[in-house]
Amino acid sequence: MKASSFVETLLSKMTLEEKVGQMTQLSIDTICFGEPYQLSDPLQIDPAKLDYVVKELKVGSILNVGIYAHPVERWQELIGAIQEAAAHTQLSVPILYGVDSIHGANYTQGSTLFPQQLGLAATYNTDLAEQLAAVSAYETRASGIPWTFSPVLDLGRQALWPRLWETFGEDVHLTTQMGLAMVKGYEGEDIAHPHRVASCLKHYAGYGFSWTGHDRTPVYLGERQLREYHLAPFAAAIKAGAATIMINSGEINGIPVHASRQMLTDILRDEMGFEGIAVTDWEDIRYLHTRHRVADNHKEAVRMAIEAGVDMSMVPMDATFTTHLIELVKEGTISEERLDVSVRRILRLKERLGLFEKTHQPLESFPEFAAQKSAELSRQAARESLILLKNEGGQLPLDASKTVLVCGPTADSMVSLNGGWSYTWQGERSDEFAEAHNSILQAVVERIGADKVRYVRGCSHDEIIDLEEAQQAAEEVDQIILCLGEQSYTEFFGNLNDLYLPDAQMLLTDALLSTGKPITLVLAEGRPRLIREIEPSIPSILLSLYPGNEGGNAIADVLYGDTNPSGKLPITYPRFPNALHTYDHKYSELQSIQGAPRIYAPQFEFGHGLSYTQFSYHSLALDKSQYAQTDRIHIKVDVENSGPRKGQEVVQVFVSDLYASITPPVRRLRAFSKITLEPGERQTIEIELAVSELAFVDLQNQWRVEAGDFTLRVANLEAAFKVTD
Ligand code: BGC
Repeated sequence: MKASSFVETLLSKMTLEEKVGQMTQLSIDTICFGEPYQLSDPLQIDPAKLDYVVKELKVGSILNVGIYAHPVERWQELIGAIQEAAAHTQLSVPILYGVDSIHGANYTQGSTLFPQQLGLAATYNTDLAEQLAAVSAYETRASGIPWTFSPVLDLGRQALWPRLWETFGEDVHLTTQMGLAMVKGYEGEDIAHPHRVASCLKHYAGYGFSWTGHDRTPVYLGERQLREYHLAPFAAAIKAGAATIMINSGEINGIPVHASRQMLTDILRDEMGFEGIAVTDWEDIRYLHTRHRVADNHKEAVRMAIEAGVDMSMVPMDATFTTHLIELVKEGTISEERLDVSVRRILRLKERLGLFEKTHQPLESFPEFAAQKSAELSRQAARESLILLKNEGGQLPLDASKTVLVCGPTADSMVSLNGGWSYTWQGERSDEFAEAHNSILQAVVERIGADKVRYVRGCSHDEIIDLEEAQQAAEEVDQIILCLGEQSYTEFFGNLNDLYLPDAQMLLTDALLSTGKPITLVLAEGRPRLIREIEPSIPSILLSLYPGNEGGNAIADVLYGDTNPSGKLPITYPRFPNALHTYDHKYSELQSIQGAPRIYAPQFEFGHGLSYTQFSYHSLALDKSQYAQTDRIHIKVDVENSGPRKGQEVVQVFVSDLYASITPPVRRLRAFSKITLEPGERQTIEIELAVSELAFVDLQNQWRVEAGDFTLRVANLEAAFKVTD
């Protein structure tokens, strides 16, 4: 992208200090009263600090707020004060404010909160993803902020990872399609539009696949796997024009990504052609010295990161980056031309966002902030995100005329519906900020009437509270809705050593099972907590993956049959803690030699999800039996709603490359389509797939489709075809 003459002129007027300032991003902590990380609530700007940061350090970007969601009016004031200070600097370059609006404008009070990405992925509905990203952009812009650190394009292929719920799950195709839809929703046709924001693809790349499952611990990845799986969604979103990326905090094969010229320049710029901003993650240049220990001092860490290709440093609490980068240029270690490359990109983004004309629009320009229709969209997304894992004997939907005990640690908790990055970084204050919204309990009460509902919590996340009372109450009702799962957590705070649900939740389950009353289990969690021991005794199980503020209502909608569930698992739900496979595993993971136990036996398969109606598939047909490399495959299949209710179905197309020079996975999801069918309705679904989309990364690390035999599967149907050279 060529910078405009406006940007070139501006750049030519800049001092070294101003350029380094543009490459510096500080936290809002640094301009407020109070100590960094310990701000008082609600925070207040300290004019002296603001002056220092904007006028002396000349910073180009400020970010976030970790402890408190502001009302939208307050955001307008804060941004107004920051931009006002910037307007009084030498060149009046506006500040680029960035925020983690990851499931709505989640740092703005009263905004519309949607399902987190993993729940959204379960909808397989790219239109919904685009629409809700557009609402999120609108409400973020209403808060005066033009840049969101979203979407996450890391793959969720490690069930233990505390950021699994921030991903679109384990599959490359689903992640790519949902990611593209969100970028489109955020950026629209033109990010200059006052209702759109710049997106930030994170965390480039390979972040989520750590050996230990703990956050920011080492990843070991072969280049082929890195390219074929982890880079692919980023490559697609960059091609589609995403404005910025955030760099993976971790190390891959011993090389921290922030110090990797191969990742940040050779692949990102030269191969993928990315022209936007590459911002570090939180404090990650310092961590090259203190955590990764590849730099023996901070200044060396700055040199490494800049030489690798970083444009902007999320410092974010002090002036060390700025001071050291200025020194490095003055000493001649880093050239000023190198800085120009990054500063040009940063100024270009500010120009594209229209910040030079107007830093932010007044609140009156956003009459649809937190509009009713956005809440309805959120409820729709939440409904479609719910996955009916099991429904033996048609126990669901529940009979609203029967009495029910609602029980468990997640039953009356907005925290377990929203997860992290909700009002605060850790999301622990959702019950207070989202008080106006219904928890599962409140939604059930609203749906069937308080007189039919008993509530006993039974246990907290991991401690028994009133087990006997719960058991007693269970004896007195017709049925039980047991709500288990997780609270909220973000990053390191969610590290886990054991995927099983805590003992307290198991004991509560056992106590309720002993009553013999029919139980419906509602799991509210951000990653698959193991239920192998209790699953056989529980006839119906509904999974919610942080469905957001409308999650309680949506769960009641499904439990009582007002909504027919349609969510499908975007991950493989494991049965055992030490058997964490993905659906696209290798054939060798399925070995069973001479009666030895089968290795691959998840609790629920990727793509699984039941409905209150039944769908049957017929007449799968391909237009040819043999395809050339440049061909497109035309797939036709009939889907019939053979059950009693209207329902939505996700048609999933899996393809297996039967033999290849690199061991092929057993299958890959290559296409999907979501449809709605009336009872008795039959539709012919047509899906097109380019042969090139079946490529893998070969021995030379190049994408290639090898000639040979393939099998294509849709539900229980199968078709064979060949690809020629
Ligand atoms: C997270 C990022 C986030 C950034 C800014 C980091 O700790 O890894 O995902 O965007 O903080 O809040």
